[in-house]
Amino acid sequence: MDYNYEYFKKSADYILSKIDFKPEVAMILGSALGSLAEEIENPVVIPYEDIPNFLQSTVDSHAGELILGTLSGKKVVCMSGRFHYYEGYDFEQLVIPIRVFKLLGVQTTILTNAAGAVNLDYEAGDVMIIRDHIKIMGASPLRGKNIEEFGQRFFDVGDMYTERLRDVAKKCAANTELKVHEGVYFFWMGPQFESPSEIKAIRILGGDAAGMSTVTESLTAAHCGMDLLALSLMTNMAAGVLDQPITPHEVGVIANQSAGKLRGYLKDILVNL
Ligand code: HPA
Repeated sequence: MDYNYEYFKKSADYILSKIDFKPEVAMILGSALGSLAEEIENPVVIPYEDIPNFLQSTVDSHAGELILGTLSGKKVVCMSGRFHYYEGYDFEQLVIPIRVFKLLGVQTTILTNAAGAVNLDYEAGDVMIIRDHIKIMGASPLRGKNIEEFGQRFFDVGDMYTERLRDVAKKCAANTELKVHEGVYFFWMGPQFESPSEIKAIRILGGDAAGMSTVTESLTAAHCGMDLLALSLMTNMAAGVLDQPITPHEVGVIANQSAGKLRGYLKDILVNL
């Protein structure tokens, strides 16, 4: 498949034909936060399957809709349900949503995810503002022919999690009951959770949380020069920290318990962007 500029433009043109405004903020909501999309005012809902050249969700807990409208006074485009490498997509395909959002005119992207807490000072239910990431598993999503319209072949990633937005998230942390940290997200390809020894290695390497998403989207956003904020909800202590297995059920329970507070926190951040 040739993922050229026209490929992404076809998706964007379809979406633009359904709305009469330009979204300024894109949000990709992980398992923990899909419900935030229900609060979007005057929503235009577009099933992924209707969008030409878009991808389809295969994970049950993720809805497959794009929702466009107003949230906290901002024009937003929101993905309720994201795409992951472990679903079988190639890294090159995982650039699609962010590139399409760029072509809608989006300048700021907010990503959320569920992650396992590697840092022993964290607890399940805490939030981590991603300051940086480690991705040493798998190819770059920017591999392949570069599309100059989006960005340069080689690009800096030293400040890709925009400092100004992290500062906003840190200030808003004072208004939530959630405990908010700042740390390093370790990208794990999955779908199996890490082994206890892998988590020990991740800790030694400098990871504070481990998860199976987000970094592909972050890198795509950095390549095309978007401002970026990414938040992880600790749905569990990572493997080997507690003497119990990690189950999708446990991840879902914490995600649901924290969803309300996390929604409030995110809306506060949106207001203060
Ligand atoms: N590891 C990787 N991904 C995750 C985890 C975890 O422990 N919890 C939720 N997503």
